[in-house]
Amino acid sequence: MRPHTLTSAFVSVSRLYTAAAAASSSTCRATHALLPSNLLKTCIPSTTRPLSTSSSLSKLVSPQAETTASKQEIRIPTPSTPVTMAANSATLLESFKARRTYYQLNKELPIPKDKITSIVQENLIQVPSSFNSQSNRVLVLYGAEHDKLWDITSEVLKPLVPAESWDATAGRNAGFKAGAGTVLFFIDTTVISNMQEKFALYKDRFPTWAEHSTAMLQFATWTTLEAEGLGANLQHYNPLIDERVAAEWNIPANWQLTAQLVFGGRAGEPGPKDHLPLEETFKVAGA
Ligand SMILES: Cc1cc2nc3c(=O)[nH]c(=O)nc-3n(C[C@H](O)[C@H](O)[C@H](O)COP(=O)(O)O)c2cc1C
Repeated sequence: MRPHTLTSAFVSVSRLYTAAAAASSSTCRATHALLPSNLLKTCIPSTTRPLSTSSSLSKLVSPQAETTASKQEIRIPTPSTPVTMAANSATLLESFKARRTYYQLNKELPIPKDKITSIVQENLIQVPSSFNSQSNRVLVLYGAEHDKLWDITSEVLKPLVPAESWDATAGRNAGFKAGAGTVLFFIDTTVISNMQEKFALYKDRFPTWAEHSTAMLQFATWTTLEAEGLGANLQHYNPLIDERVAAEWNIPANWQLTAQLVFGGRAGEPGPKDHLPLEETFKVAGA
């Protein structure tokens, strides 16, 4: 099976949740995105559109495979003028380019687990947060604990997924379990409420800024682990798995799960990826 065919609408709609969650942290909306409509009688239908100016909703709710490997001609925008970059920025940009979604993973890690732990810790320390509020929290699972996470996810999904979709869902979860570990990212909601009390003027902004900071941490962790030769992919089974995760790993009630980064040895290649032309996505002004 090609890596991107592991991804079904369930994963795609979890992306829809991510975008919606940036606009509102409504658990009901998040759940709506993930569940068949007959299970959501108490939820108000989600109307929040993903934060995208160019992609249609139908495109976003289609399987990730279709969003990443569209049938359009692949256009790689290039900057209008070649730029000579300092070695440091060139190296960083190379790492950003090399960060891709690897769905096919195995348990053979190219570096020791201790090094992975240190990299994750260093990212957690270095990634910025609004007012240096330090709202990010992390749990790293290796080996049998990682396997347990994906067993739990299967158990949670099984009664929710339509029978005809179960094979695809089970296959995708098996792909995650085949990896060597998972980094779970959380926001400490107590930090948000403390900041809201302290800086009333920005009260409404702190939840969004905490989302920005967790996203930065996810990107930094994904990029640095792959710079070490690992493969990784980002998943969003929250909020469905939140309670089980909290119970299993003694997670404080104020840690809100935001994403799961599955990592392991590379057992396949990333799928193709297209890019919008810079003329559509970029403006510059000033001399
Ligand atoms: C905020 C965000 C949420 C994502 N959520 C998921 C997800 O739930 N499941 C998944 O398989 N991939 C998810 N992805 C991966 C994207 O589909 C992927 O990054 C994108 O198609 C570009 O491919 P690349 O990672 O190879 O560059 C997410 C990526 C981002 C940035």
